[in-house]
Amino acid sequence: MSDDLRWTPVGKIAEWKEGDGRPIQIGARRLGVYLHGGTFFAMKDICPHAGVSLSQGSIVDGAVMCVGHGWTFDLKTGEVARGPGGYKVATYPVRVVDGEVQVGV
Ligand code: FES
Repeated sequence: MSDDLRWTPVGKIAEWKEGDGRPIQIGARRLGVYLHGGTFFAMKDICPHAGVSLSQGSIVDGAVMCVGHGWTFDLKTGEVARGPGGYKVATYPVRVVDGEVQVGV
């Protein structure tokens, strides 16, 4: 993780339940921030297929399922887990400081 990142607070830990995904706006970026397996993940919130908000979907086998057409995107890598290959969604580092969830952009 680079020290060049700008860490932006996006909420308190208690605001997420296991399996939650919440849409977050950081400047011009639309992200989804997820809690899965006790770990936070952040991913661009725009499906590369047809632009649907990925954070509306549920998490299946460590991947977010798009409610548009069912493609899934790995929470760790952003790569398509189920659907056509060659697509990827940007991911961002997440840290927790004093109970506050922060995303590095
Ligand atoms: S819009 Fe996401 S799979 Fe089609």
